Amino acid sequence: NFIASDIPAILKHVRKIYLIENNETVVLTASSVKIYNAERREVHREVFNVTWDADAAEKEGYDHFMLKEIHEQPKGIRNTITRRMDEEGNIVLDGIRMTKEEIENFNKVYIVACGTAYHAGLIGKTVIEKLAGISVEVDVASEFRYRDPFVDENTLFIAISQSGETADTLAALRLARSKGCPVIGLCNVLGSSIAREADATMYTWAGPEISVATTKAYSTQLAACYLLATEFARVRGTLADGQYEHLVTELEALPEKIEKTLADKERIQWFASKYANAKDAFFIGRGLDYAVALEGSLKFKEISYIHSEAFAAGEMKHGPISLVENGTLVVGILTQPDLFEKSVSNMVEVKSRGAFLMGLTTYGNYSIEDTAGFTVYVPKTD
Ligand code: M6R
Repeated sequence: NFIASDIPAILKHVRKIYLIENNETVVLTASSVKIYNAERREVHREVFNVTWDADAAEKEGYDHFMLKEIHEQPKGIRNTITRRMDEEGNIVLDGIRMTKEEIENFNKVYIVACGTAYHAGLIGKTVIEKLAGISVEVDVASEFRYRDPFVDENTLFIAISQSGETADTLAALRLARSKGCPVIGLCNVLGSSIAREADATMYTWAGPEISVATTKAYSTQLAACYLLATEFARVRGTLADGQYEHLVTELEALPEKIEKTLADKERIQWFASKYANAKDAFFIGRGLDYAVALEGSLKFKEISYIHSEAFAAGEMKHGPISLVENGTLVVGILTQPDLFEKSVSNMVEVKSRGAFLMGLTTYGNYSIEDTAGFTVYVPKTD
């Protein structure tokens, strides 16, 4: 008999499974399995006969792991948020081991990471600065570690890493520690090197990420950054009345909003198939949308092998626009109300060079269809 947290772990050895519910206790011996409820009464459980093979079981019916993990984003975000909330709806940073005074006294936050995790850090910078009023630097770990950076004991250092094992991020963390910075590791893999070497770890609860092209880990890193920013802001007293509760409610609503976006996947797949032979694709946006554009472009080239770049939308006219030809795919991301018109004007500029435009904006911004040839809508969030 085996016990495991997931069926694939034991599927090579067994086909007959008992599914254990919350608050149950199991007594497992070599020859018997007994299940008890919270009142310590033995419960009868039907055997679940697994008919799938190990490979299909691991992918749970999806064609590949990346697709499965894209669909696991709502669950990962829900887990990341609920594990940091108490019953009264307050964010709890248990285990972060930082006093109120320390949070009040940081004069700078330094976020260091690689690749997608770096892109999550760019979002973290915007929200920490905006909500908590602390200046934040973000750096690529392979640059930070050779730069002799200005950090000291009043700098909070945050290393973001899905695996917790990326060599450059680990080296940057060690450098920061040697300069006296308190270090938070924001990791997905329990007990990883970064989690062990940081002063404190804030886990993302995306679950195991098998696909090399990260998706759900990125989403949960964003959720973790928002949790940190909101709590820092509360402690530092930088929020308006009712803003804390509003932000928490918005965070808790995210999984459902992501589900709504995923429900539109067939339309998105249809559009993707039309552009599968594209030579280049550009992603543009401003503010938070620029950070998302960088990640969109990275994911796009990594997985499709189509050349892609991301630009701050306002930078297009300073050179990159010359790369746009008739039919070049340009994806404009416009989710922030205050920057919407500005970004639309940048999209109009590239359209005049012949670009085919895809818009990514929130429901309600239907005027985008005057400019974009195809639009994906996502629910509004704060
Ligand atoms: O495990 P890490 O988050 O430290 O990995 C950093 C990057 O290698 C990683 O985010 C990479 O850019 C993505 N897998 C790309 O999809």
